Amino acid sequence: MSTPADPLATSATANAMWGGRFASGPDAIMTAINASIGFDRRLYAQDIAGSRAHVAMLAGTGIVSRSDAEAIGEGLLTVLSEIEAGRFEFRTDLEDIHLNVESRLKDLIGPAAGRLHTARSRNDQVAVDFRLWVRDQCDAAITGLQALMRAFLAQAAAGADWVMPGFTHLQTAQPVTWGHHMLAYVEMLNRDLGRFRDARARMNECPLGAAALAGTSFPIDRAMTAAALGFDRPTANSLDSVSDRDFALEFLAASSICAMHLSRFAEELVIWSSAQFRFVRLSDRWTTGSSIMPQKKNPDAAELLRAKLGRILGATVALFTVMKGLALTYSKDMQEDKEQVFDAADTLMLALAAMTGMVGDMTANRDVLAASAASGFSTATDLADWLVRALNLPFREAHHVTGRLVALAEAKGCDLPDLSIAEMTAEHPGITQEVYSVLGVQNSVNSRTSYGGTAPIRVAEQVARWHTLLADAALPQERQP
Ligand code: ARG
Repeated sequence: MSTPADPLATSATANAMWGGRFASGPDAIMTAINASIGFDRRLYAQDIAGSRAHVAMLAGTGIVSRSDAEAIGEGLLTVLSEIEAGRFEFRTDLEDIHLNVESRLKDLIGPAAGRLHTARSRNDQVAVDFRLWVRDQCDAAITGLQALMRAFLAQAAAGADWVMPGFTHLQTAQPVTWGHHMLAYVEMLNRDLGRFRDARARMNECPLGAAALAGTSFPIDRAMTAAALGFDRPTANSLDSVSDRDFALEFLAASSICAMHLSRFAEELVIWSSAQFRFVRLSDRWTTGSSIMPQKKNPDAAELLRAKLGRILGATVALFTVMKGLALTYSKDMQEDKEQVFDAADTLMLALAAMTGMVGDMTANRDVLAASAASGFSTATDLADWLVRALNLPFREAHHVTGRLVALAEAKGCDLPDLSIAEMTAEHPGITQEVYSVLGVQNSVNSRTSYGGTAPIRVAEQVARWHTLLADAALPQERQP
């Protein structure tokens, strides 16, 4: 490149940054399919941070002079401020964020800019940029999850002893407490949080210095760049460094599982807020009206949250499909990684924020929950358990006796506590008046005191445990109290 081509060149002229051996420039459609600047401009801050760390190391090891390194470092800060002020012209002919930044640096400081790319390739450059970006998203997901967990915890604390029906198969199963149901999500979200934390720890190795694929003959100091960029250590294999995208896949997998959890609660909200259930009231801030049916209050935010997993899982499948079967090391296929991850991350952060707002705003209809908890023969298991305890029946026989009483109540159109003692003893002569004490919903939940059970005293303990854990922003990975 003795006489660099005009970087503004269209297909008539070769690329200014790498076009030395090219007689002509790319076809316009080649430019369109090849360029990533339309989306990878989002990596500008990471790209500039990576370059600043790299050039500081080049100076520290004597590979470039202090004065050139200073000019490069300063020039990169100017580029950063131009981009942040919206004064930077992103150019498609310069392909990607890396070449855009470097080209502008050359405008600003002249030929010394060309020393920045010593002992480096865009392959390790993009690997480090993208890791830094995904690492930030792990931190954002952790923060978003903590906020959502606090919202669920506040609901749990308010209603630790409110009774509601617990479901299996969406059929009334046994009474549970509102607090217990809310804390179920806190547990799920904490595992999600742990997945982001684990992924972050695993990805926190610096690929910079792997160069194109084989390392470099320059005496670089990879520990220095790794430390400057907040990585725990440099990656140990240069081939792996430029070809690995499993850090992005882990982020997507964790995001998918998290979005699946959000989707499940979203579905519960859709059901619970319906006129038929009325378990909760969603605030006006998270619902919409109908243009034709004046009575409607649609749970649109919940419905959208139910759907967002489709998008995030789609991104996950897309990147797996891109990476599958790629021979080592870098191939341009891998440029297709970024849009998927960007969209998934944006979607997840929005979903976490929306769910946090909705959970914070929703109001449980305590009376409706209590009435519903008592219906549907929800204490049938309590009756069977009483027959075992009080009359020493084998559980299978107790189950059978209870089943007949349920059938009788159903035929009469009443609930179990409405059956007379005569009707009870007709099914089993040993039954006494005492049985009515276990047929109450409050008694039912109070009795489920096993560790992890729904009894209000157990729920209150868990609320206290989570208050302690969530008060500490770092949220240590704690297993059992
Ligand atoms: N824009 C490219 C990407 O996102 C940067 C790496 C280009 N490397 C190369 N050898 N052409 O993957």
